[in-house]
Order: sequence, then C-alpha cells, then structure tokens
Amino acid sequence: MSRRDVLKVSALGAAALALPFERVARAKTASKIAESKIPRPYTLPFKVPPVIDGRGGGTITIAQKMQNAVILPGVQTPIFGYNGITPGPTILARRGTPLNIAVSNELPAKHPNWGYEAWTSVHLHGSASKPQFDGYASDITRVGQTKTYQFPNNQESRTLWYHDHGVHHTAENAYMGLAAMYLMSDELEDRLPIPKGSHDLPMVIADKMFAANGSLMYDDEGHSGLYGDVMLVNGQPWPNLKVAKRKYRFRILNASLSRGLRLQLSNSAPMTVIATDGGLMPKPQTTVQLRVGMAERYEVVIDFAQYAPGTKIQLRNLGVPNSRDFDNTDKVMQFEVTADAFDAANNDVPAELNPQNEIMLLDETKVPGIKTVKLDLHRSNSTWKVNNTTWDDIVKSNYQTVVANPQPDEVQIWEITNKSGGWFHPTHIHLVDFKILSRNGKAPFNYELGPKDVAYVGENETVRLITKFAHQTGRYMIHCHNLPHEDHDMMTQFRVGTDTVDNDPMTSAPAGPIGAGGGGVTVIPVVNTSTPATPTATPTAVPTTAATTATPRPATTTTTRRRR
Ligand code: C2O
Ligand code: CU
Ligand code: CU
Repeated sequence: MSRRDVLKVSALGAAALALPFERVARAKTASKIAESKIPRPYTLPFKVPPVIDGRGGGTITIAQKMQNAVILPGVQTPIFGYNGITPGPTILARRGTPLNIAVSNELPAKHPNWGYEAWTSVHLHGSASKPQFDGYASDITRVGQTKTYQFPNNQESRTLWYHDHGVHHTAENAYMGLAAMYLMSDELEDRLPIPKGSHDLPMVIADKMFAANGSLMYDDEGHSGLYGDVMLVNGQPWPNLKVAKRKYRFRILNASLSRGLRLQLSNSAPMTVIATDGGLMPKPQTTVQLRVGMAERYEVVIDFAQYAPGTKIQLRNLGVPNSRDFDNTDKVMQFEVTADAFDAANNDVPAELNPQNEIMLLDETKVPGIKTVKLDLHRSNSTWKVNNTTWDDIVKSNYQTVVANPQPDEVQIWEITNKSGGWFHPTHIHLVDFKILSRNGKAPFNYELGPKDVAYVGENETVRLITKFAHQTGRYMIHCHNLPHEDHDMMTQFRVGTDTVDNDPMTSAPAGPIGAGGGGVTVIPVVNTSTPATPTATPTAVPTTAATTATPRPATTTTTRRRR
C-alpha cells in the first residue's frame, strides 16, 4: 500500500469508528422515563403563563404549593409552583407604584422525593428591593409561614423574574418550578412603537429531566451542574408558535439551573436585541447568535414579515462550553408563519431606545478616586467560593462579613475573575444594574451594551464592570447563578452605607405563621388554579389590559400532597 492509501484507510477507519464512539460517548437522553412519553419537538403549542395585574399597587397574595402539572403529554409531574403552577403567574407592575406580595409557604414539610425541608425565600431578581424584602437566602419562610414582600418598582421598565432563594435549596426549589416573570412598565416604554400586547411574549427557557414515574429528576453531579434533556419554554416542551407576518418581541429568560444557551434562528436571520437585564438598551443591536447565561434576560425583536405563510423557523441552541448536550437540547422552539390578519400598530424598532440610561452613561474617567473591587471565583475542597469565602462563612459571621462597603450612590469598578478552564459562572449582583466594560480586556458582545445584573464570566475570563450603588442601603448578595454552585456555596455579600434597624435582611421583616398575617397582612387563601386542558394555538399573552385576558396555563390538575 502506498502512503496515500494508508492515509485513506486510516481516515475511513477513523470515520467508521467515530459513529459508534459518538453514540457511546454521548448519552442520548438524561431522563429515565420511556422515550415514547417525551413529545417530539415542535408538536405542542406555545403557552404563556397567566397574568396577575399589579399595576394598580396594593397587595397580591401568592401561595407556594405542590401540584401535579402535565408537562409531558399524559404524564403527571409534581411541581412546586407559585399558586401551584410553573412558571408561576406573570406579575405586571408599574414604575412608581409599589406592590406588596404576601407569599405563603404551603409546600409539603419535606420534599417528597429528595427529603429536604422545603423552606423558601422569594427574590425579585432585577428589583432594588430593601434587604429584608430581597429574598436574602437565610431569611427563610418555613412551611406554614408567610411573609409579605414590598417591592418599590422605582427603577426603569424591565423584565424581572421572581424565584426562590432559600438557603442551600435554591436550586431544587427553582428546578421544581418556583420561578416566574414580573414585568414592570413605564412611560418611556409606553411611548416607544415597539411590539406590545399579544406581540410581546415571555420566553422562559429551562431544561428538565424526568424519572420513570414522571417526577422531575435531580442530579447536579456533585454540585457541578444539572443538565436536563427536555427543553421547556414557558413550561411546554419545544413548543410551536404561530406568528403573523409582523414583528414580535420576546422576553427571553434563561431559567435553567446550569445550562448556558447560545440561541440562533435556523435560517440564521438576525435578531434585534432591544433590552437587557435592567431594561431598554440605549440603542438596539442586531445579532445572529445570542448567548444567554442562567438568569440573564434579553428582549429580542424578530420580524416575520418577509416570510411566506407556512414557513417554519426554529430557534436553535448551539450550546456553550461546559454545558452538557443531549439529542434535543439543540432545539428550543419553532415559529410557524401564518397568513392571519394582524394589528400593524407598534411594529417598529426605533434607532434610539433609552439613550439617557444612567448606568450606561457611567464613565470611570469622570469618577475621581474610583475604587476597584476584585472578586475571584473558584472551587476548592469541592466547595465553590468567592474570594475564598462561602455563604457559611457569612452565616458564621452573624451575616456581617462583606466583600465591599460602597457608600450610597458611590460608583465602583468590579472585576470578576474565573481562572478555571472548566467552568463558567454567570455572576449576579443584587440591587444594582451595571455596565459591562470588558471581558479579558476586550469589548463585550454588542447585545450586552445595555444595563445588566448578571455577567457571564466564561472560562479563564475576567469581566470588568462599572456600577452605582443607588436606591437602598444595607446588605445584598452576590453569587453565581449556576444554582448548584450558589447553594454550595458560591455566594457572598456587600453592604451599601450602614446597617439600620430598617434594613436588616434577617430581622427587619421575618416571616410569621400563616393566618397570623406575616408582615401585618391577612393571607387570603388562593383559589384553585386548575384549568381544563385547552391548548391554544394563538397566544394572547402579556395583555396590557386586565388579567382576565391572559391565556390560562392548561392542564394543571388536582393537588396531590405527598407528605411524609
Ligand atoms: Cu436570580 Cu440572587 O438571584
Ligand atoms: Cu437578583
Ligand atoms: Cu458558577
């Protein structure tokens, strides 16, 4: 054989070997349930969670409950839900109108499968809430207790989300379903001709895995991360959304515990990003690929005007390093263009959105004596740490240790470093919005040029950001939003200004027993949220009017309390 033939044969041999090796090396699914129970992608309709309109202020009551949900067709899956559904109800709020939410913990005393005590703490992610209403991890509400949270709604319009933050069980509680959207609007947003009403849709993306009996499986591989094989959008596996020939606004939230996403349309059409975690960007930015780490929010406008009715376009996930892929985790959902008549109002993206955003105008060269705070993210002795400390160290200090103590309204630079090549850490700073200045000295992605509260700190990266410690004083958490990392124990805190009796996260507003009215509010039992299974082809979500126009989430069924 000539040398060339040898090369050919070995190339063939390598190709022949590659296939079975690939099959062995790559698990097809993570779930243990029969494959026939998992729906084929794009066969189920897009759904949106029901809406609670809190724009008038006052107090909303929400119960955290375990209920059975139908996530896989014909399969009952016990979930933890705000009002027993997941995602929980989308709450509408208005800038300048504070809103109270009385949350009762009516979960089973112990998780039926995993045995832990189901204490909770509610965090409104994206809100400058006071420390005692910020879901401080150790400020827990035990089963049978309630707590009334006060949300000031004093920032610019944005896509927030509320999710559990109970110490050491944030990951399990959020994975079980305690996560939902909270949309705050304002006059600036009202004035913009961007898609609204039924053309403004939430897209809560999360991966799950299912045990043989249909319950959710939890495996975080020694607190490394949980990677499910079933991709849900608003609680529905790989849905199909019928769209009219116009622009739509999607409020993308990566609510996965550990899976990073890199989204791209199947036809590689550009997407127009109009808002980041902290609301509208100064200017829209177009991109073909959008990386979305856990807890990041991006509002994206996609224009379907150019497509013939019947065209199908998929939203794909190209994956990120150090997230485990399965056969269908490269698929998220599908858009199916229709010939339907549509309302052509608010079908635009202006060249400027929020050019005066205060955070995006911050300039380190204009702040004499600006301080730089450094955070180092790493793992040692199989524990995740920030600056070599854990949340347990904070607890041992009676919640006093802090990594920074900015004065009210102080502007600082923070530098977050991840020296590991094997992990990425989407790092969240509570209370503030920030501007990402650089990543390893290079400019951030164009779609990151908006106010952020989570920074994707990739493998061997240092992210430099600037922020202003406005709105409140007191102690706030900083943590990795890979929730198994956060729980074990990559979380620390900072203090703005000084502590007072009115801003102590542990003692200013502790939970009280249900019925006694924790926080001085009487808790009204929540009505049964069960609705008949009526899949809807066309979403009518995120109504700008009353909650009654919301599409109910179909197929939550009767409560099954499995106590032990
Ligand atoms: Cu989205 Cu401290 O969390
Ligand atoms: Cu937060
Ligand atoms: Cu992490």
